[in-house]
Amino acid sequence: MDMAKKDQMVEECYCSISSDIFKFLPKSGLPFCLYRMNPQTGTFSAATTPGKTIVSTDKKIIFKECDKDLIFIKSSDIADCRPYFCANLETVISDMAHSIPDEDMAMIIVEALKEASNKLFKDSLKKNFQHFYSTLHAAGELVHNNPDIIWYMIPLLDKQHSLTNKSISNGIIGAGICLHGREGKPDFNSFMESLIALFLCDVGMCCLPDFVLGKEFSLSVDEQKRIRNHPVSSVEVLSITQSLTNTSLRAILEHHERMDGSGYPRGVTSENISWLGKLCGAVDSFVAMTMIRPGKKCMTTVDALKALYKESYLYDPNIIYALEKVTYRE
Ligand SMILES: [Fe+2]
Repeated sequence: MDMAKKDQMVEECYCSISSDIFKFLPKSGLPFCLYRMNPQTGTFSAATTPGKTIVSTDKKIIFKECDKDLIFIKSSDIADCRPYFCANLETVISDMAHSIPDEDMAMIIVEALKEASNKLFKDSLKKNFQHFYSTLHAAGELVHNNPDIIWYMIPLLDKQHSLTNKSISNGIIGAGICLHGREGKPDFNSFMESLIALFLCDVGMCCLPDFVLGKEFSLSVDEQKRIRNHPVSSVEVLSITQSLTNTSLRAILEHHERMDGSGYPRGVTSENISWLGKLCGAVDSFVAMTMIRPGKKCMTTVDALKALYKESYLYDPNIIYALEKVTYRE
């Protein structure tokens, strides 16, 4: 195939949109065109003008045509749709997962999770939990059905240290281990239990004042005590939502426990730590080591994995091996 023809094909890649998606696209100032497909010829023509208000008669016609699968956007316009898509992830995934390329869908999911986690970590948990949960549920469903999308998500993780970025990295790397690092795929419910624990194990950190979180060294005894209590705070904070299973809550409580009993808050040993608790612990340590924060050297993936292998008395070696499989790809 000659290049000109190939370029034309890439240029002419379209995704159909449903009336539910049309509902949340702005009707004035939409920066790109909606296209109408002629069902007889399969050709596309512009149904709207970029930047121009869609008048109400056109709105009604387009709305009806969406239901007949006749209205499309260009694949190359998906980046401009991201702000609208991220806020409505459930609809986008259920209506478009089959037509958006994995690479673009990975970007939308990571951004949507970031937005939902930010609200949770920086604003009221009670007010924002439901939105976070439905975003995570929609993302979880898509990734569970199409595990390869994880390979597009991992390179998008932001290494700059913040509670939100750490939560996203924990969740996505942990999801990779659940889907690619073990034999057999978990059922959807246990996959969701794992995601919840991975994403939310540090939510209790929000109860700490910023100045404690920002400190790297010279924490007072009281500050150390408060930090070491954050797994308990996480469980307490999340208990008010009443949506978490005991498996998730237990893993959150255990994510700083270590196999030799040197962890916290209870100092229990390997046989008393659940598999999910061990997974959250190993992933959380790996992410903490590889994040960039002021005054601390950030480790490369290889160095962090080596450090974890060296401390095999603290972490489950099978989990570290699975972590290597997911994070280190030549
Ligand atoms: Fe933690």
